[in-house]
Amino acid sequence: MTVAIVAEALTPDEPTRDIYFEVKKRGLPVRYIPIQRLSVKMSNDRVSVETRRGPLEASTVVIRGLGYVIDSNTFMRRVSVLRILERSGVSTINSVDALLSCRNKLETIYLLAKAGLPVPPTVVTEDLYYGYMAAKEMGKVVLKPIQGSRGFGAMLFDDPEQAFQVMRTLLIAKNPLYIQKYVEKPNRDIRIIVVDKRPIGCMYRVSTSWKTNIAQGATGVPCKITPELEDLAVKATETLGLVYSGVDIGEGREGYVVFEVNASPDWRGFKQATGINPAVYLADYIQRITKK
Ligand SMILES: Nc1ncnc2c1ncn2[C@@H]1O[C@H](COP(=O)(O)OP(=O)(O)O)[C@@H](O)[C@H]1O
Ligand SMILES: [Mg+2]
Repeated sequence: MTVAIVAEALTPDEPTRDIYFEVKKRGLPVRYIPIQRLSVKMSNDRVSVETRRGPLEASTVVIRGLGYVIDSNTFMRRVSVLRILERSGVSTINSVDALLSCRNKLETIYLLAKAGLPVPPTVVTEDLYYGYMAAKEMGKVVLKPIQGSRGFGAMLFDDPEQAFQVMRTLLIAKNPLYIQKYVEKPNRDIRIIVVDKRPIGCMYRVSTSWKTNIAQGATGVPCKITPELEDLAVKATETLGLVYSGVDIGEGREGYVVFEVNASPDWRGFKQATGINPAVYLADYIQRITKK
C-alpha cells in the first residue's frame, strides 16, 4: 500500500472520501484506516506501525483528524504513533506538528502574530481576574474553546459581568480561557482553501449569526480573490507549516484579520459554492510526493 488516510470516524466523511477517490483515480493504492486501528509493535531491533492486517507499509499518510472527544492519554498515544511513522520516513499530510499548532488556538494565533500577520487582540489565561480585566478592556468579547471547530462552543459577550460568570464556570470545568476582542465585520467572513502554496478558491460565508461557519447555518457564496487575500492565505498556511488548509479571514474596520487556520478543513460548503473540489489538487500533490 502506498497512501493511507487516517481519521477517527469508522466511516470516512465526505472530504476524506473525496481524497480517497482522487488518489485512487491516479492509480495509487489507497486505504482508509481509523486511527484507533493503528497500533505500534516494538522490540529491541524493530518498531512497526501495524493494523490488524499487519505492517502499514504506506509511504504517505494523510491525517484527516486525531479525534475530537478524547482524553489526554489517548491523544498522546495517537500523536506518538503518527510521530513514529514520520520518524520512519513516511510523509504526513499535514504533519503532526502542523496539526497540533492548528488544533491549539493559542499556538495558532501566537505563530500568526509572530509572523506579522493580522489577528484579533487575544488573551489566553487560567487567571479569572486577569481574564475579567481583559474582557472589561476589550468591550465586546468572544470566548472560544482552545481546541474547537465549526463554531461549537464559541460565545459572544457584550457585558463583562456575564463573561465573568461564564469564565468562572469554564475554569471550574478545567477549561483555560481564550478571550478575543470581537471584530466588527459584515455578516460574513472569507474562507480560502490553499493547497501546496496555491490558493485554489475563495468563498464568503454569509450568515445571520456572528459565527459564519457553514456548520452554524452560513451559506457559501463565491468570492473574487485579490492578491492581498492570496498573499495573506498563503503566508498563514506556510507559517503554520501546512501543505493544505482552510484559512478563515475577517473583514475588520482596520483591515483583514485571520481568525484561524484549519488543518483538516471540511469543504462540502466550499465545493457547493465554488464548484472546486480541493481533493483534486491535494491528490495531484500526493501523486507528486508519493513513492510507488
Ligand atoms: N474575534 C472575533 N470577532 C468576530 N467574529 C469572530 C471572532 N472569532 C470568531 N468569529 C466568527 O466565528 C467563526 C468561528 O471562529 P473560528 O475562530 O474560526 O473558530 P472555529 O474553529 O469554531 O471555526 C469565525 O469564522 C467568525 O465568523
Ligand atoms: Mg473557523
